[in-house]
Parts: sequence; C-alpha cells; structure tokens
Amino acid sequence: MSFPETRPRRLRTTPAMRRMVAEHRLHPADLVLPAFVREGIDEPVPIGSMPGVVQHSVASLRKAAAEAAEAGVSGIMLFGVPVDGKKDAVGSPGTDPDGILQAGLRAVRAEVGDALVVMSDLCLDEVTDHGHCGVLDERGRVDNDATLERYAEMAVVQAEAGAQVLGPSGMMDGQVGHVRRALDAAGHQDVALLAYTAKYASAFYGPFREAVNSSLRGDRKTYQQDAPNAREALRELELDLAEGADLVMVKPGLPYLDILRTVADASPVPVAAYQISGEYAMVEAAAERGWIDRERAIEETLTSFKRAGADLVLTYWATEYAQRLGAAG
Ligand code: PBG
Repeated sequence: MSFPETRPRRLRTTPAMRRMVAEHRLHPADLVLPAFVREGIDEPVPIGSMPGVVQHSVASLRKAAAEAAEAGVSGIMLFGVPVDGKKDAVGSPGTDPDGILQAGLRAVRAEVGDALVVMSDLCLDEVTDHGHCGVLDERGRVDNDATLERYAEMAVVQAEAGAQVLGPSGMMDGQVGHVRRALDAAGHQDVALLAYTAKYASAFYGPFREAVNSSLRGDRKTYQQDAPNAREALRELELDLAEGADLVMVKPGLPYLDILRTVADASPVPVAAYQISGEYAMVEAAAERGWIDRERAIEETLTSFKRAGADLVLTYWATEYAQRLGAAG
C-alpha cells in the first residue's frame, strides 16, 4: 500500500493559502457597467427579466454612474431607449444630438468627469422601428453598406456628446474601419473603438430585448456569427485589427469561453468579455429559487472570464461586485 508523495491538496488547505496561490484575481478596474437610459421617465423602471437592473431616467443614471465610479469600476457602457413613437426605419434618434443616448452621455460625463471611461453602444437596433441592427433594403434584408453610413453619422454624434469609447455592435462588415474614418474626418481621433469582434447570434440576449423595448421580430442570424463556428472569430479579429480596433470583445461570455481564449491568445490589443443579459438572468433566477448560491456563482463566472484571458469584463454586476472587492480590502 503506497500513499502519494505529491499532494496538490496542501495548497488548498486554508482560505489564506488559496488566496496566496490564486492565479487570477479580479480588480474593480477590470469591470465595466452596461447601463440603460430611457427617454420620458422620471423614475427608473425595473426590467422584469433582469432583477436588480433598471431602465434609468437621466437623473438615476447620473447616480448609478457616480456609484460605479466610487466603487472603482473603470467604465460605463450606455444604451439608449427612445420613446417608441420616435423610432423609425433609419433609426433617427441615433443621430439626433438630443436623442436619449446622447443626453445620457452628456449627463454621465458631467457627473463623473474622467473618473469613468464613458462608452456608448453604436448600433441601430435600439432606435429602429423594425429592431434590426441596420437599415433594410427594399426586400427587407439588412443593407450592410447603407448601414455603415448611418453608423458613421451616429459615431460623430456620440463623440460630440462626450463618448470616449464607441462600441460598434451591429456586426456589419467593415464597420470598424468606416466608423474610424468618419471619426477622424470629424476631428475625433482620440475616440477609441471597442470592436464587437466575435459576436454570436444568441438566445441569451433575450432579457436585453426587454431592457431596450426592442421591436425586433425574427433574429439576427444573417449578421451575427453562428454558434458552431470558432475559426471565424480569428478572421473577424484580423479584420477588426486591420480596420483600427483599439480594443476587441467576445460576446456572449460563458457559452463562448473557448472563443475568448482563442481571441485573447491572438490579440495584440486589450480583450473584453461581455457577460450578457441572459447570463445575468440565469444566475439571478436560479439564486432566487435557492438553487444556487448567488454570490459564489457571480464570482465564479467573473473569474472564468479572467481565466479565459479577458482583460476587461462588461457585467451588470460591476458596481455590486466592485463594492464587494472593496469591502474585502
Ligand atoms: C446590439 C446589442 C445587443 C446587446 C448589446 N448590444 C443585442 C443584440 O445583439 O441582440 C446584448 C447585451 C445583453 O444581452 O446584455 N445593440
């Protein structure tokens, strides 16, 4: 009978020992808070499928941004929700200097100054009456190049409202390069682009549709990537880098950790992961039923992104988790 001489369990004996040998740690600065700002409301409106997340009024958004900055979160990513009547086929609220996203950007910049990096979603789905991420051609298909022209205009309007990083999330071909040229031509060379490099068509965006009062029927499979394909993520990475991406992102998070690892290994620029609405909802729903331990599940999922190579994580738990890290010292 022989007993093992090598015992990996020795390094797991106490919390202090485990802490000492942890390969990956989260820091508040790793986290970015996605937030929704809705036009025409005075009080925040809860999002039923995302317990704890709200559609903000401009005033409550300011408070949430200040709170995130206080907790040490590094950035905030804004999504605008216009009143339904203003949405149209080309997404006019997206290029209206007084559109709700632009109002939110100005309010957050005024509130937090440079304490948070202020980012905005650069996409048409929140502002079109058909809910697609682009404009449609006469046959109802998403028209790539006509959409690029809209993104270019939106980018300049968002930059003028104070966005420091733009997140083109529509998955149109050439979007990063087209937006880059438009920004530069308008004198916004300092505005950075966070490319949604690998963005998969996913069932886990479900709760987001409620969050932005989406008008979409059907799906986004002709422009977002198809779940079985991994190699394609590298092709998208090459294109985004060639077009001038400053940061790249993989989205969703948990079901695509393999893609995150692949992109992180190949990318010369910082890599973000987006823990999306459905991932948030799954944990909250299971925890609400007492089926999993909420705090531990949050920490474990966030840690998995760091382990898979992410430098940054966009998560709806950003402020809460940063506060928890702060309290732990
Ligand atoms: C598109 C966009 C989406 C999300 C972020 N940007 C929705 C989609 O692609 O269908 C999803 C974020 C989430 O689910 O948390 N503007």
